[in-house]
Amino acid sequence: MKMNRYEEIWLMLSGAMLVIFMVITGYQTFALGMGPPSNKETIDPEKVDETAPFDKPGVYQTGDHEYEVVMTLEVFNFNPGKIEIPAGSTVTFIMTSKDVVHGFQVVDTNLNAMVMPGHIQRATQKFSKPGEYLVLCNEYCGTGHQHMSTVITVK
Ligand code: CUA
Repeated sequence: MKMNRYEEIWLMLSGAMLVIFMVITGYQTFALGMGPPSNKETIDPEKVDETAPFDKPGVYQTGDHEYEVVMTLEVFNFNPGKIEIPAGSTVTFIMTSKDVVHGFQVVDTNLNAMVMPGHIQRATQKFSKPGEYLVLCNEYCGTGHQHMSTVITVK
């Protein structure tokens, strides 16, 4: 059976495109280390309360205008529930979940992280403007999901 010339050309073109995309993706993942972050920092989700730093959730000052918030998430709470920081602070959130996948989205910022059990999630954000920043869980985590929220107060 003889194939139409144009059909052959298009088949070859699409095959070549597939190969090119695979090479580009492979190069980015393995040579440039741009693959999705996985298994970088892990934790036993059953032992979060005994594992540092999560045995002491809270707000810690680490430098001039620098803070760390060690946070655990569980149905349907953020712990610490009350976060207050001075305006102009850069805050690094270190988070893990004690049960299911939760979200950590801070309204009016670019902060939006997925917090998974067994993994430690870090996210840094500078808070320049004073105000109350609403924090929402944006991953469906159970019947109380829509009530899972807290507030970051920047003064
Ligand atoms: Cu936690 Cu939805």
